[in-house]
Amino acid sequence: MLDNVIQSTKENFEAYKGCWATQHFKNSNPIVLELGCGRGEYSNGLARVFPDKNFIGIDIKGDRLAAGALVAHQEDLKHVAFLRIMMQFIDDHFGENEVDEIWITFPDPRPKDRDEKKRLTNPTFLAKYRKILKPGGILHLKTDASAFFDFSKEMLTMQDWPILVSTPDLYKSEWNGDHFGIKTRFETIFHKKGFSIHYLRAENKKEA
Ligand SMILES: C[S@@+](CC[C@H](N)C(=O)[O-])C[C@H]1O[C@@H](n2cnc3c(N)ncnc32)[C@H](O)[C@@H]1O
Repeated sequence: MLDNVIQSTKENFEAYKGCWATQHFKNSNPIVLELGCGRGEYSNGLARVFPDKNFIGIDIKGDRLAAGALVAHQEDLKHVAFLRIMMQFIDDHFGENEVDEIWITFPDPRPKDRDEKKRLTNPTFLAKYRKILKPGGILHLKTDASAFFDFSKEMLTMQDWPILVSTPDLYKSEWNGDHFGIKTRFETIFHKKGFSIHYLRAENKKEA
């Protein structure tokens, strides 16, 4: 296992929660998370663009994380790490206001009503993101699933997250440059099948 992959253990909660930048990355740079990162195309892709930020890709699937970690290792991207946890425990691993930005990239849309609680933008997850994100921190969502996109917008609005940008077709929108041309594995597959890429950006409104 590469040393840029962190498994969820009690020691790791204690070692890194609230101090990822200083303890893991050995700097004081902002922290950006990619949730449901799979092979971490965003974590590695953004890390190539922003050498002065730290990136942590989070997923439960170890084989996917390992593939992303290998790319980071081969390219010597020392400001990228991968954390293997269930998202339900994200606030056990990050301190309050520790995170500057969150990207949720092509999360499982979970269309069945009974799976609503598993959608990564349901109110339970949003409350956890609100806690670990700084006031004014940005949540980005990219998805090809329009029903999931509408659900997410509804939940964000309900939970008082101002939506700053929203488009059902990112590539044809004025915000196309804002994703730096980074495409994930699922993005490529679904775009080839004819789905348009939906994108939104919301702000973490809370007291400083
Ligand atoms: C559809 S894949 C997208 C992967 C990648 N972001 C992409 O666009 O290619 C969704 C990913 O979210 C992860 N995931 C879904 N629910 C999760 C949860 N509750 N905790 C951790 N990972 C989760 C899955 O393991 C999977 O790798």
